[in-house]
Amino acid sequence: MALFGNFGYLFSTAFFALGMVYMGNPKRASKGNALLILGMITAVVSTLGFNASEGLDFNWNRLLLILALLIVGIVAGRKISFSFKITRMPELVSLFNGFGGLCAALIGWVSLFQTNVELSQSSQVILLLSLFMGFSTFSGSMIAFFKLGGKLKKAWRGNNAYMWLTLLLSGVTFLSSLQPNTFIDVKTSVLLLGLFSLSYGVFFANGVGGGDMPVLISVLNGLTGVLTTISGIYFENTIMILLGVFVGATGVILTIQMCKAMNKSFVKIFFNTAKKAIHIQGEAEELDIKETSSASIVADLTLAKKVAIVPGYGLAIAQAQKACYELKNLLNAYDTDVKFVIHPVAGRMPGHMNVLLAEANIPYADILDLDKGNEYLAESDLCFVIGANDVVNTSAETNENSPIYGMPIIQTYLAQKVVIIKRSLSNGYADIQNPVFGLENSSMYFTDAKVGLESIVTELKER
Ligand code: TAP
Repeated sequence: MALFGNFGYLFSTAFFALGMVYMGNPKRASKGNALLILGMITAVVSTLGFNASEGLDFNWNRLLLILALLIVGIVAGRKISFSFKITRMPELVSLFNGFGGLCAALIGWVSLFQTNVELSQSSQVILLLSLFMGFSTFSGSMIAFFKLGGKLKKAWRGNNAYMWLTLLLSGVTFLSSLQPNTFIDVKTSVLLLGLFSLSYGVFFANGVGGGDMPVLISVLNGLTGVLTTISGIYFENTIMILLGVFVGATGVILTIQMCKAMNKSFVKIFFNTAKKAIHIQGEAEELDIKETSSASIVADLTLAKKVAIVPGYGLAIAQAQKACYELKNLLNAYDTDVKFVIHPVAGRMPGHMNVLLAEANIPYADILDLDKGNEYLAESDLCFVIGANDVVNTSAETNENSPIYGMPIIQTYLAQKVVIIKRSLSNGYADIQNPVFGLENSSMYFTDAKVGLESIVTELKER
Protein backbone atom coordinates (compact mmCIF):
# COMPACT_ATOMS: atom_id res chain seq x y z
CA MET A 1 0.00 0.00 0.00
CA ALA A 2 2.87 2.39 0.83
CA LEU A 3 4.40 1.66 -2.58
CA PHE A 4 1.00 2.30 -4.19
CA GLY A 5 0.77 5.62 -2.27
CA ASN A 6 4.27 6.71 -3.37
CA PHE A 7 3.56 5.92 -7.00
CA GLY A 8 0.26 7.73 -6.69
CA TYR A 9 2.05 10.86 -5.41
CA LEU A 10 4.51 10.63 -8.29
CA PHE A 11 1.69 10.50 -10.85
CA SER A 12 -0.22 13.22 -9.04
CA THR A 13 2.84 15.53 -9.16
CA ALA A 14 3.30 14.79 -12.87
CA PHE A 15 -0.39 15.58 -13.56
CA PHE A 16 -0.12 18.85 -11.63
CA ALA A 17 3.11 19.91 -13.36
CA LEU A 18 1.74 19.10 -16.82
CA GLY A 19 -1.63 20.70 -15.99
CA MET A 20 0.11 23.92 -14.99
CA VAL A 21 2.12 23.97 -18.23
CA TYR A 22 -1.13 23.50 -20.19
CA MET A 23 -2.81 26.29 -18.20
CA GLY A 24 -0.19 28.70 -19.58
CA ASN A 25 -1.92 28.68 -22.95
CA PRO A 26 -5.62 29.71 -23.15
CA LYS A 27 -6.25 27.23 -25.99
CA ARG A 28 -5.03 24.25 -23.91
CA ALA A 29 -6.36 25.55 -20.57
CA SER A 30 -9.37 23.18 -20.42
CA LYS A 31 -7.06 20.19 -20.89
CA GLY A 32 -4.84 21.68 -18.18
CA ASN A 33 -7.83 21.94 -15.89
CA ALA A 34 -8.75 18.27 -16.51
CA LEU A 35 -5.15 17.22 -15.70
CA LEU A 36 -5.22 19.23 -12.45
CA ILE A 37 -8.49 17.53 -11.43
CA LEU A 38 -6.91 14.16 -12.20
CA GLY A 39 -3.87 15.16 -10.12
CA MET A 40 -6.09 16.01 -7.16
CA ILE A 41 -8.07 12.75 -7.41
CA THR A 42 -4.81 10.77 -7.56
CA ALA A 43 -3.48 12.69 -4.53
CA VAL A 44 -6.60 11.97 -2.43
CA VAL A 45 -6.72 8.27 -3.38
CA SER A 46 -2.98 7.87 -2.68
CA THR A 47 -3.32 9.54 0.72
CA LEU A 48 -6.12 7.12 1.63
CA GLY A 49 -3.83 4.30 0.47
CA PHE A 50 -1.02 5.57 2.72
CA ASN A 51 -3.29 5.84 5.72
CA ALA A 52 -4.52 2.30 5.16
CA SER A 53 -0.93 0.99 4.88
CA GLU A 54 0.13 2.69 8.09
CA GLY A 55 -2.98 1.47 9.95
CA LEU A 56 -3.83 5.03 11.01
CA ASP A 57 -7.11 4.36 12.84
CA PHE A 58 -8.40 3.11 9.51
CA ASN A 59 -11.96 1.90 9.60
CA TRP A 60 -14.94 1.89 7.28
CA ASN A 61 -16.84 4.55 9.23
CA ARG A 62 -13.94 6.94 8.81
CA LEU A 63 -13.67 6.15 5.10
CA LEU A 64 -17.40 6.75 4.61
CA LEU A 65 -17.15 10.05 6.48
CA ILE A 66 -14.24 11.14 4.25
CA LEU A 67 -16.14 10.15 1.09
CA ALA A 68 -19.30 11.94 2.28
CA LEU A 69 -17.29 15.11 2.99
CA LEU A 70 -15.58 14.86 -0.39
CA ILE A 71 -18.98 14.64 -2.12
CA VAL A 72 -20.29 17.64 -0.14
CA GLY A 73 -17.12 19.59 -1.07
CA ILE A 74 -17.34 18.70 -4.76
CA VAL A 75 -21.07 19.53 -5.03
CA ALA A 76 -20.75 22.79 -3.06
CA GLY A 77 -17.56 23.83 -4.92
CA ARG A 78 -19.18 23.18 -8.30
CA LYS A 79 -22.35 25.07 -7.35
CA ILE A 80 -20.42 28.08 -6.01
CA SER A 81 -18.09 28.15 -9.07
CA PHE A 82 -20.96 28.06 -11.54
CA SER A 83 -22.87 30.77 -9.69
CA PHE A 84 -20.06 33.31 -10.35
CA LYS A 85 -19.88 34.99 -13.76
CA ILE A 86 -16.43 34.95 -15.41
CA THR A 87 -15.98 38.68 -14.65
CA ARG A 88 -16.29 37.84 -10.91
CA MET A 89 -13.59 35.14 -11.08
CA PRO A 90 -11.10 37.00 -8.80
CA GLU A 91 -13.80 37.17 -6.11
CA LEU A 92 -14.19 33.40 -6.41
CA VAL A 93 -10.40 32.94 -6.19
CA SER A 94 -10.36 35.05 -3.01
CA LEU A 95 -13.21 33.04 -1.53
CA PHE A 96 -11.49 29.70 -2.19
CA ASN A 97 -8.16 31.11 -0.95
CA GLY A 98 -9.96 32.10 2.23
CA PHE A 99 -11.38 28.58 2.67
CA GLY A 100 -7.85 27.16 2.19
CA GLY A 101 -6.57 29.46 4.94
CA LEU A 102 -9.43 28.59 7.28
CA CYS A 103 -8.82 24.89 6.68
CA ALA A 104 -5.12 25.20 7.59
CA ALA A 105 -5.98 27.25 10.70
CA LEU A 106 -8.52 24.68 11.89
CA ILE A 107 -6.07 21.81 11.28
CA GLY A 108 -3.53 23.74 13.36
CA TRP A 109 -6.10 24.35 16.10
CA VAL A 110 -7.28 20.71 16.32
CA SER A 111 -3.73 19.33 16.19
CA LEU A 112 -2.57 21.67 18.98
CA PHE A 113 -5.22 20.40 21.35
CA GLN A 114 -4.97 16.67 20.66
CA THR A 115 -4.82 15.01 24.06
CA ASN A 116 -3.23 11.74 22.89
CA VAL A 117 -0.12 13.27 21.26
CA GLU A 118 2.86 14.88 23.01
CA LEU A 119 3.91 17.75 20.75
CA SER A 120 7.56 18.69 20.36
CA GLN A 121 8.51 22.40 20.46
CA SER A 122 9.11 22.42 16.67
CA SER A 123 5.67 20.87 16.01
CA GLN A 124 4.09 23.51 18.22
CA VAL A 125 5.86 26.28 16.28
CA ILE A 126 4.66 24.80 12.95
CA LEU A 127 1.06 24.48 14.17
CA LEU A 128 0.95 27.97 15.69
CA LEU A 129 2.39 29.37 12.47
CA SER A 130 -0.27 27.62 10.42
CA LEU A 131 -2.92 28.93 12.86
CA PHE A 132 -1.63 32.52 12.55
CA MET A 133 -1.18 32.44 8.76
CA GLY A 134 -4.38 30.47 8.20
CA PHE A 135 -6.62 32.85 10.13
CA SER A 136 -5.00 35.96 8.66
CA THR A 137 -5.21 34.55 5.09
CA PHE A 138 -8.86 33.71 5.73
CA SER A 139 -9.89 37.17 6.99
CA GLY A 140 -7.64 38.93 4.42
CA SER A 141 -9.23 36.94 1.60
CA MET A 142 -12.71 37.81 2.84
CA ILE A 143 -11.78 41.52 2.81
CA ALA A 144 -10.37 41.08 -0.73
CA PHE A 145 -13.64 39.36 -1.70
CA PHE A 146 -15.70 42.36 -0.50
CA LYS A 147 -13.29 44.89 -2.03
CA LEU A 148 -13.40 43.19 -5.44
CA GLY A 149 -17.19 43.15 -5.24
CA GLY A 150 -17.09 46.93 -4.67
CA LYS A 151 -18.51 46.65 -1.11
CA LEU A 152 -15.43 48.10 0.57
CA LYS A 153 -13.80 51.01 -1.22
CA LYS A 154 -11.46 52.87 1.12
CA ALA A 155 -9.19 51.84 3.97
CA TRP A 156 -10.28 52.96 7.43
CA ARG A 157 -8.50 55.80 9.16
CA GLY A 158 -5.72 54.47 11.38
CA ASN A 159 -5.71 51.20 9.41
CA ASN A 160 -1.91 50.96 9.32
CA ALA A 161 -1.54 51.54 13.07
CA TYR A 162 -4.11 48.78 13.82
CA MET A 163 -2.29 46.48 11.39
CA TRP A 164 1.03 46.88 13.24
CA LEU A 165 -0.67 46.62 16.65
CA THR A 166 -2.46 43.36 15.79
CA LEU A 167 0.76 41.95 14.30
CA LEU A 168 2.61 42.80 17.52
CA LEU A 169 -0.13 41.25 19.68
CA SER A 170 -0.12 38.15 17.45
CA GLY A 171 3.65 37.88 18.05
CA VAL A 172 3.26 38.19 21.84
CA THR A 173 0.44 35.60 22.03
CA PHE A 174 2.39 33.32 19.66
CA LEU A 175 5.28 33.27 22.16
CA SER A 176 3.04 32.87 25.19
CA SER A 177 1.25 29.93 23.47
CA LEU A 178 4.52 28.03 23.23
CA GLN A 179 4.88 27.16 26.90
CA PRO A 180 3.07 27.58 30.20
CA ASN A 181 3.88 30.90 31.88
CA THR A 182 2.73 32.92 34.86
CA PHE A 183 0.82 35.56 32.89
CA ILE A 184 -1.63 33.65 30.76
CA ASP A 185 -2.59 30.00 30.26
CA VAL A 186 -1.78 28.34 26.92
CA LYS A 187 -5.39 27.80 25.81
CA THR A 188 -6.30 31.48 26.31
CA SER A 189 -3.09 32.47 24.50
CA VAL A 190 -3.98 30.36 21.48
CA LEU A 191 -7.52 31.73 21.48
CA LEU A 192 -6.18 35.30 21.56
CA LEU A 193 -3.64 34.45 18.84
CA GLY A 194 -6.55 33.29 16.67
CA LEU A 195 -8.46 36.56 17.26
CA PHE A 196 -5.42 38.81 16.66
CA SER A 197 -4.53 36.84 13.50
CA LEU A 198 -8.05 37.35 12.15
CA SER A 199 -7.83 41.10 12.90
CA TYR A 200 -4.34 41.36 11.39
CA GLY A 201 -5.60 39.80 8.12
CA VAL A 202 -8.46 42.33 8.00
CA PHE A 203 -6.18 45.39 8.43
CA PHE A 204 -3.45 43.96 6.18
CA ALA A 205 -5.86 43.50 3.26
CA ASN A 206 -7.87 46.63 3.87
CA GLY A 207 -4.77 48.84 3.71
CA VAL A 208 -4.32 47.99 0.04
CA GLY A 209 -5.61 50.70 -2.29
CA GLY A 210 -8.04 50.01 -5.19
CA GLY A 211 -5.59 49.77 -8.12
CA ASP A 212 -3.14 47.60 -6.13
CA MET A 213 -5.64 44.78 -5.64
CA PRO A 214 -3.96 42.47 -8.20
CA VAL A 215 -0.93 42.28 -5.89
CA LEU A 216 -3.08 41.48 -2.84
CA ILE A 217 -4.78 38.62 -4.69
CA SER A 218 -1.49 37.07 -5.78
CA VAL A 219 0.03 37.45 -2.28
CA LEU A 220 -2.95 35.71 -0.64
CA ASN A 221 -2.69 33.00 -3.28
CA GLY A 222 1.00 32.47 -2.52
CA LEU A 223 0.31 32.43 1.24
CA THR A 224 -2.18 29.59 0.85
CA GLY A 225 0.59 27.61 -0.87
CA VAL A 226 3.05 28.33 1.95
CA LEU A 227 0.41 27.25 4.47
CA THR A 228 -0.16 23.96 2.67
CA THR A 229 3.61 23.35 2.76
CA ILE A 230 3.69 24.07 6.51
CA SER A 231 0.82 21.62 7.15
CA GLY A 232 2.60 19.10 4.88
CA ILE A 233 5.75 19.38 7.00
CA TYR A 234 3.78 18.69 10.19
CA PHE A 235 1.94 15.69 8.70
CA GLU A 236 5.08 14.53 6.86
CA ASN A 237 2.97 14.39 3.71
CA THR A 238 5.01 14.63 0.48
CA ILE A 239 2.17 15.69 -1.81
CA MET A 240 1.05 18.53 0.48
CA ILE A 241 4.63 19.85 0.59
CA LEU A 242 5.05 19.55 -3.20
CA LEU A 243 1.75 21.15 -4.13
CA GLY A 244 2.20 23.84 -1.48
CA VAL A 245 5.56 24.69 -3.04
CA PHE A 246 3.93 24.82 -6.50
CA VAL A 247 1.23 27.23 -5.36
CA GLY A 248 3.59 29.26 -3.16
CA ALA A 249 6.18 29.63 -5.94
CA THR A 250 3.61 30.63 -8.57
CA GLY A 251 2.12 33.10 -6.07
CA VAL A 252 5.55 34.68 -5.50
CA ILE A 253 6.28 34.88 -9.25
CA LEU A 254 2.87 36.44 -9.90
CA THR A 255 3.36 38.92 -7.05
CA ILE A 256 6.70 40.03 -8.50
CA GLN A 257 5.11 40.44 -11.94
CA MET A 258 2.15 42.39 -10.55
CA CYS A 259 4.46 44.70 -8.53
CA LYS A 260 6.40 45.33 -11.76
CA ALA A 261 3.17 46.04 -13.65
CA MET A 262 2.21 48.60 -10.99
CA ASN A 263 5.82 49.87 -10.75
CA LYS A 264 5.56 49.71 -6.96
CA SER A 265 7.54 47.85 -4.35
CA PHE A 266 5.88 45.21 -2.19
CA VAL A 267 6.60 47.25 0.96
CA LYS A 268 5.02 50.37 -0.52
CA ILE A 269 1.85 48.51 -1.44
CA PHE A 270 1.34 46.69 1.85
CA PHE A 271 2.88 48.87 4.51
CA ASN A 272 2.63 52.35 3.15
CA THR A 273 -0.64 52.61 1.29
CA ALA A 274 -3.29 53.19 3.93
CA LYS A 275 -2.59 56.90 3.84
CA LYS A 276 -2.88 56.93 0.08
CA ALA A 277 -5.97 54.76 0.03
CA ILE A 278 -7.86 57.32 2.14
CA HIS A 279 -6.25 60.23 0.36
CA ILE A 280 -8.88 62.60 -0.98
CA GLN A 281 -8.10 63.41 -4.56
CA GLY A 282 -9.18 67.04 -4.50
CA GLU A 283 -11.84 68.57 -6.76
CA ALA A 284 -12.48 66.76 -10.03
CA GLU A 285 -11.13 68.74 -12.98
CA GLU A 286 -13.42 70.19 -15.62
CA LEU A 287 -12.69 68.13 -18.76
CA ASP A 288 -13.35 69.21 -22.33
CA ILE A 289 -15.44 66.24 -23.45
CA LYS A 290 -16.15 65.73 -27.15
CA GLU A 291 -18.74 63.15 -28.20
CA THR A 292 -18.52 61.11 -31.38
CA SER A 293 -20.84 58.77 -33.27
CA SER A 294 -20.54 55.48 -35.13
CA ALA A 295 -20.85 57.30 -38.49
CA SER A 296 -17.92 59.59 -37.71
CA ILE A 297 -15.83 56.65 -36.38
CA VAL A 298 -16.52 54.67 -39.58
CA ALA A 299 -15.41 57.67 -41.67
CA ASP A 300 -12.10 57.78 -39.75
CA LEU A 301 -11.66 54.01 -40.02
CA THR A 302 -11.92 54.03 -43.81
CA LEU A 303 -8.89 56.36 -43.90
CA ALA A 304 -6.85 54.63 -41.20
CA LYS A 305 -3.89 52.37 -41.99
CA LYS A 306 -2.99 51.38 -38.44
CA VAL A 307 -5.56 50.86 -35.68
CA ALA A 308 -4.81 49.99 -32.04
CA ILE A 309 -7.45 48.43 -29.77
CA VAL A 310 -7.01 48.72 -26.00
CA PRO A 311 -9.37 46.35 -24.16
CA GLY A 312 -10.31 46.71 -20.50
CA TYR A 313 -12.67 45.31 -17.89
CA GLY A 314 -15.72 46.85 -19.66
CA LEU A 315 -15.00 44.64 -22.70
CA ALA A 316 -15.38 41.60 -20.46
CA ILE A 317 -18.60 42.98 -18.91
CA ALA A 318 -20.08 43.66 -22.36
CA GLN A 319 -18.70 40.37 -23.78
CA ALA A 320 -17.63 42.34 -26.84
CA GLN A 321 -14.63 40.17 -27.78
CA LYS A 322 -16.34 38.56 -30.80
CA ALA A 323 -17.40 42.00 -32.11
CA CYS A 324 -13.72 43.05 -31.78
CA TYR A 325 -12.71 40.04 -33.85
CA GLU A 326 -15.24 40.94 -36.56
CA LEU A 327 -14.04 44.54 -36.66
CA LYS A 328 -10.43 43.41 -36.92
CA ASN A 329 -11.20 41.01 -39.82
CA LEU A 330 -13.18 43.66 -41.65
CA LEU A 331 -10.39 46.23 -41.29
CA ASN A 332 -7.75 43.68 -42.30
CA ALA A 333 -9.78 43.07 -45.49
CA TYR A 334 -9.30 46.79 -46.26
CA ASP A 335 -5.53 46.40 -45.69
CA THR A 336 -5.69 48.17 -42.36
CA ASP A 337 -3.36 46.76 -39.72
CA VAL A 338 -5.01 46.11 -36.33
CA LYS A 339 -3.19 45.32 -33.11
CA PHE A 340 -4.51 44.75 -29.57
CA VAL A 341 -2.52 46.35 -26.76
CA ILE A 342 -2.86 44.68 -23.36
CA HIS A 343 -1.88 46.07 -19.95
CA PRO A 344 -0.81 43.41 -17.41
CA VAL A 345 -3.45 44.52 -14.87
CA ALA A 346 -6.30 45.17 -17.34
CA GLY A 347 -9.52 43.50 -16.26
CA ARG A 348 -9.84 41.81 -12.91
CA MET A 349 -7.42 38.89 -13.05
CA PRO A 350 -3.97 38.19 -14.45
CA GLY A 351 -4.30 37.35 -18.15
CA HIS A 352 -8.00 38.33 -18.18
CA MET A 353 -7.80 40.14 -21.53
CA ASN A 354 -5.61 37.45 -23.16
CA VAL A 355 -8.18 34.80 -22.24
CA LEU A 356 -11.02 36.92 -23.67
CA LEU A 357 -9.23 37.59 -26.94
CA ALA A 358 -8.15 33.94 -27.28
CA GLU A 359 -11.81 32.95 -26.80
CA ALA A 360 -12.64 35.11 -29.84
CA ASN A 361 -9.83 33.47 -31.89
CA ILE A 362 -7.74 36.64 -32.09
CA PRO A 363 -4.22 35.45 -33.05
CA TYR A 364 -1.36 35.88 -30.56
CA ALA A 365 0.65 37.69 -33.21
CA ASP A 366 -1.87 40.56 -33.13
CA ILE A 367 -1.54 41.08 -29.36
CA LEU A 368 1.14 43.45 -28.07
CA ASP A 369 2.42 44.00 -24.55
CA LEU A 370 2.78 47.41 -22.94
CA ASP A 371 6.17 48.45 -24.40
CA LYS A 372 5.58 47.18 -27.94
CA GLY A 373 2.01 48.49 -27.75
CA ASN A 374 3.15 52.01 -26.90
CA GLU A 375 5.55 51.96 -29.86
CA TYR A 376 2.67 50.84 -32.09
CA LEU A 377 0.40 53.56 -30.69
CA ALA A 378 2.87 56.23 -31.73
CA GLU A 379 2.38 55.09 -35.35
CA SER A 380 -1.40 54.52 -35.17
CA ASP A 381 -4.00 56.61 -36.93
CA LEU A 382 -6.74 55.58 -34.54
CA CYS A 383 -6.88 54.02 -31.09
CA PHE A 384 -10.01 52.39 -29.67
CA VAL A 385 -10.18 52.25 -25.88
CA ILE A 386 -12.88 49.66 -25.22
CA GLY A 387 -14.11 49.48 -21.64
CA ALA A 388 -10.63 50.37 -20.30
CA ASN A 389 -10.04 53.20 -17.87
CA ASP A 390 -7.32 52.95 -15.16
CA VAL A 391 -4.83 51.30 -17.52
CA VAL A 392 -4.90 54.35 -19.83
CA ASN A 393 -5.20 56.96 -17.06
CA THR A 394 -2.58 59.68 -17.65
CA SER A 395 -2.74 60.82 -14.00
CA ALA A 396 -0.31 57.91 -13.44
CA GLU A 397 2.22 59.98 -15.41
CA THR A 398 1.27 63.51 -14.48
CA ASN A 399 -0.26 63.69 -10.99
CA GLU A 400 2.10 62.90 -8.10
CA ASN A 401 -0.85 62.73 -5.70
CA SER A 402 -2.64 60.08 -7.71
CA PRO A 403 -2.77 56.64 -6.02
CA ILE A 404 -1.64 55.11 -9.33
CA TYR A 405 1.23 57.60 -9.87
CA GLY A 406 4.22 55.78 -11.36
CA MET A 407 2.22 52.89 -12.82
CA PRO A 408 3.19 52.39 -16.49
CA ILE A 409 0.13 53.02 -18.66
CA ILE A 410 -0.92 52.37 -22.23
CA GLN A 411 -0.15 55.73 -23.83
CA THR A 412 -3.23 56.00 -26.01
CA TYR A 413 -2.68 59.75 -26.44
CA LEU A 414 0.25 58.96 -28.79
CA ALA A 415 -2.20 57.91 -31.52
CA GLN A 416 -3.52 60.49 -33.98
CA LYS A 417 -7.09 60.01 -32.72
CA VAL A 418 -8.44 58.25 -29.65
CA VAL A 419 -12.02 56.93 -29.44
CA ILE A 420 -13.13 55.83 -25.98
CA ILE A 421 -16.08 53.45 -25.89
CA LYS A 422 -17.79 53.31 -22.51
CA ARG A 423 -21.25 54.04 -21.17
CA SER A 424 -20.55 57.17 -19.13
CA LEU A 425 -17.80 59.35 -17.69
CA SER A 426 -17.66 57.21 -14.54
CA ASN A 427 -14.30 56.32 -12.97
CA GLY A 428 -12.54 52.96 -13.25
CA TYR A 429 -11.67 50.48 -10.49
CA ALA A 430 -9.21 52.80 -8.72
CA ASP A 431 -11.97 55.44 -8.59
CA ILE A 432 -9.96 58.32 -10.04
CA GLN A 433 -10.80 60.80 -12.76
CA ASN A 434 -9.23 60.09 -16.16
CA PRO A 435 -7.77 63.15 -17.94
CA VAL A 436 -7.51 61.15 -21.21
CA PHE A 437 -11.25 61.66 -21.77
CA GLY A 438 -10.69 65.41 -22.16
CA LEU A 439 -7.53 65.43 -24.33
CA GLU A 440 -7.62 67.26 -27.64
CA ASN A 441 -7.34 64.13 -29.78
CA SER A 442 -9.87 62.13 -27.67
CA SER A 443 -13.58 61.67 -28.25
CA MET A 444 -16.13 59.61 -26.37
CA TYR A 445 -18.59 57.15 -27.85
CA PHE A 446 -21.04 56.63 -24.99
CA THR A 447 -22.51 53.16 -25.40
CA ASP A 448 -22.23 49.57 -24.28
CA ALA A 449 -19.06 48.16 -25.88
CA LYS A 450 -20.79 45.29 -27.69
CA VAL A 451 -23.67 47.43 -29.00
CA GLY A 452 -21.24 50.16 -30.13
CA LEU A 453 -18.82 47.80 -31.88
CA GLU A 454 -21.66 45.96 -33.59
CA SER A 455 -23.05 49.21 -35.04
CA ILE A 456 -19.57 50.22 -36.24
CA VAL A 457 -19.18 46.80 -37.93
CA THR A 458 -22.64 47.03 -39.56
CA GLU A 459 -22.02 50.54 -40.88
CA LEU A 460 -18.53 49.62 -42.08
CA LYS A 461 -20.00 46.65 -44.00
CA GLU A 462 -22.56 48.95 -45.62
CA ARG A 463 -19.82 51.22 -47.03
P1 TAP B 1 -11.39 49.78 -15.10
O1 TAP B 1 -10.46 50.84 -14.69
O2 TAP B 1 -12.04 48.96 -14.04
O3 TAP B 1 -12.52 50.46 -16.02
C1 TAP B 1 -13.49 49.68 -16.67
C2 TAP B 1 -14.40 50.63 -17.42
O4 TAP B 1 -15.27 49.81 -18.20
C3 TAP B 1 -15.29 51.46 -16.51
O5 TAP B 1 -14.83 52.78 -16.41
C4 TAP B 1 -16.69 51.35 -17.14
O6 TAP B 1 -17.18 52.64 -17.49
C5 TAP B 1 -16.44 50.54 -18.41
N1 TAP B 1 -17.53 49.60 -18.67
C6 TAP B 1 -18.17 48.80 -17.80
N2 TAP B 1 -19.13 48.09 -18.43
C7 TAP B 1 -19.08 48.46 -19.73
C8 TAP B 1 -19.82 48.09 -20.88
N3 TAP B 1 -20.83 47.20 -20.83
N4 TAP B 1 -19.53 48.68 -22.06
C9 TAP B 1 -18.52 49.60 -22.14
N5 TAP B 1 -17.78 49.99 -21.08
C10 TAP B 1 -18.06 49.43 -19.88
O7 TAP B 1 -10.72 48.75 -16.12
P2 TAP B 1 -9.22 48.58 -16.60
O8 TAP B 1 -8.78 49.80 -17.35
O9 TAP B 1 -9.21 47.27 -17.28
O10 TAP B 1 -8.36 48.55 -15.28
C11 TAP B 1 -8.38 47.44 -14.39
C12 TAP B 1 -8.43 47.93 -12.95
O11 TAP B 1 -8.78 46.83 -12.12
C13 TAP B 1 -7.10 48.44 -12.49
O12 TAP B 1 -7.27 49.48 -11.56
C14 TAP B 1 -6.49 47.21 -11.79
O13 TAP B 1 -5.50 47.55 -10.84
C15 TAP B 1 -7.74 46.66 -11.12
N6 TAP B 1 -7.65 45.22 -10.80
C16 TAP B 1 -7.00 44.41 -11.67
C17 TAP B 1 -6.89 43.06 -11.33
C18 TAP B 1 -6.10 42.20 -12.28
S1 TAP B 1 -5.23 41.02 -11.69
N7 TAP B 1 -6.11 42.43 -13.56
C19 TAP B 1 -7.44 42.56 -10.14
C20 TAP B 1 -8.14 43.43 -9.30
C21 TAP B 1 -8.24 44.78 -9.66
P3 TAP B 1 -18.74 52.89 -17.66
O14 TAP B 1 -19.39 52.42 -16.42
O15 TAP B 1 -18.85 54.35 -17.88
O16 TAP B 1 -19.19 52.10 -18.88
